[in-house]
Amino acid sequence: MSTEYKDSDRPAITPQQYEVLHGGGAEAAEIAKQRLSRRRFMRRSMLAVWGLSTTAAVAGGLYMLYPNISGQFGSDLKVGTKSEFPAAVPSKFAKDQAGVFYHQEARTYISHLAADTPTLLHGQQLSDQLDAEGFVKDKDGSWWIALYQRCVHLGCTVPFRDDCVSFKCPCHGSHYNVDGEYLDGPAPRSLDRFPLYFQGEDVYVSTGTLWSPQVPRPSDSTRIIPMPGPCG
Ligand code: FES
Repeated sequence: MSTEYKDSDRPAITPQQYEVLHGGGAEAAEIAKQRLSRRRFMRRSMLAVWGLSTTAAVAGGLYMLYPNISGQFGSDLKVGTKSEFPAAVPSKFAKDQAGVFYHQEARTYISHLAADTPTLLHGQQLSDQLDAEGFVKDKDGSWWIALYQRCVHLGCTVPFRDDCVSFKCPCHGSHYNVDGEYLDGPAPRSLDRFPLYFQGEDVYVSTGTLWSPQVPRPSDSTRIIPMPGPCG
């Protein structure tokens, strides 16, 4: 138990009480009282300043460590419900109508490939490659993927081109299939993707972390779906 005594713990005394205690005159008592008051005031002011500075520093540190990004890019975002993203086979993809949907806040294209999508791989090989490229398999047999809009060459925003049924970067021509797989151009790999998950019928995209590992340019033995035609 602390025995330290503070001025603030002492009962306030009148000049008269001071006289009795210390045997001085009333004037001395008044001066002593004023000194006590001034000391208390200074100490309390310093404590208040220190307290405010400490609170501001701690709050600033916490904000740096844990910025409040809830509901913004960088957090897990609900991008819609499953029924808002009807699946399609790649040849029928049309932006925001079938198979591919842009979500501005998530800076993401949601690609939803129908269960009867023609594939170049089959069986376990297909299943393993879908896992390796970050697809989420739905219980109806369709596959979902959330593609980050940024070109992996030098970072331009990549539009989906309905006329080419693929993604084509306007900066240096990198070209990607509807599932984000690299087709041609200077990009070093396929499009990056975010983790995607469901909560009931709601679709969420985790925009704080890119899905890892990055997906390399596909080879003949890893490409999942046929390539579309060239895109000028
Ligand atoms: S930034 Fe897209 S091809 Fe260069």
